[in-house]
Amino acid sequence: MEIRAVVLLVAMTVTLCSSAAVKNHWLGYKLYRLQVSTQEQLEFLRALDQEIEYKDLQDKVDIWTHLSQAVLDLKMPINVIISPEKQPEVLALLEEQGIAYKVSIDDVAAAVEAESFMSPADQKAADAGKMSWTAYHRYATMEAFVQSLAQDYSDIVELKMIGKSYEGRSMYRLKVGKPRADGKKKPAIWMDSHIHAREWIASATLLYMTNKLVTEYSRNSTVRRMVDDLDWYILPVVNPDGLEHTHSDSSYSTRMWRRTRRISPFAECLGADPNRNYDFKWMLSGAVQSPPCSDINAGAFPFSEVENLHLTDTALEVKDQLKVFLTIHSAAQMILTPWGYALEYPSDIADLEALGRRMANAITAQYGVRYQVGSSTYLLGAAAGATDDWGKAKAGVKYSYTVELRDLGYGFILPPSHIVPSGIETFEAIIEAHRTVVAEFGTTLN
Ligand SMILES: *[C@@H]1O[C@H](CO)[C@@H](O)[C@H](O)[C@H]1NC(C)=O
Ligand SMILES: [Zn+2]
Repeated sequence: MEIRAVVLLVAMTVTLCSSAAVKNHWLGYKLYRLQVSTQEQLEFLRALDQEIEYKDLQDKVDIWTHLSQAVLDLKMPINVIISPEKQPEVLALLEEQGIAYKVSIDDVAAAVEAESFMSPADQKAADAGKMSWTAYHRYATMEAFVQSLAQDYSDIVELKMIGKSYEGRSMYRLKVGKPRADGKKKPAIWMDSHIHAREWIASATLLYMTNKLVTEYSRNSTVRRMVDDLDWYILPVVNPDGLEHTHSDSSYSTRMWRRTRRISPFAECLGADPNRNYDFKWMLSGAVQSPPCSDINAGAFPFSEVENLHLTDTALEVKDQLKVFLTIHSAAQMILTPWGYALEYPSDIADLEALGRRMANAITAQYGVRYQVGSSTYLLGAAAGATDDWGKAKAGVKYSYTVELRDLGYGFILPPSHIVPSGIETFEAIIEAHRTVVAEFGTTLN
């Protein structure tokens, strides 16, 4: 059955005609949600996934969900996007295997267009260097926005340029916190996002939360306590080159770009998966060097990606303060704990799971969006060299997590109308994180 899948996919490869218009690139694409109910079905999809990658067909059939054991055990949905010319064969294969599926986005072309839509008000905001929370903005707008926050709220915001991305974009780390009158150091929470280029909701959500922390300080007592008690170190976009690339045209492979953009002498493909590029258990599992174009290519060596180095340098500067480390992705609705390199657990896993569950419950309480909590290896599959493992092992942060934001059947094509609800529900999680840090560590470092 595996061989049959391969033969069909290769035989049916059709070159798409290229066009600048979204409609033409994505016309007829549909996003499906699959559900496996047997081990055999899961193995079938894994084999299919490998063949798709090997034959470089991801722009026609792309399994977005990591095919971990948990998708079977916990009956988690599997997002698969399929081009029109591939739908008949792939759906026939699914039916032959008895794999249940339904369409979750029928008109992907329209969804992609809606996702990039800027109303006149959004455009006006962007031109003025402001974020509106009703559209996905470009990196230049995000830069202008964090600069203006630092300027307008200099009593609680400090902006630091931490280095340049490979293509020369400035990267920023904000520190949000009211300095204590007695000058003592405070515990801190780290948040970063948008290491994967296509995960637009990640930076939109983190910047929404940043904006709330800063602009509501003077009028919201919950926010005031969060900013008084702790420092918040925020790196909103870890992969600015990738982010900009995903906006540069509307072809499938551009919009779904995940990696960095470094020109490599070793490979025809640019960059690597920065979330496999940290120097802890690098390449041990769930990461490859071949094929070079793989979405989980770990890079030629640890920290081959300069953006990762900027993140770790700036995090290590404040590591004595850090108690929680949140690295924000989309879209699987999960709070993931270390370790991600193998099905092993840190000795304080009970504490990590407890806060993870409190954060997930707080998110769910807002709008009912359900989150899974568990080990990264179990829920997503082993993936060494990722940010959360680095935060725990190398920066020594007790509560280190990967947060996978809402999916709700949209995968990476989440309409911009979700930015505000995602921001609001995820803010509930950081309220929990704040509460735990204060309860466990107090508000000063000894
Ligand atoms: C302060 O923010 C919290 C968290 O979003 C919210 O629940 C609360 O209603 C806000 N309070 C005010 C006075 O706006
Ligand atoms: Zn990701």
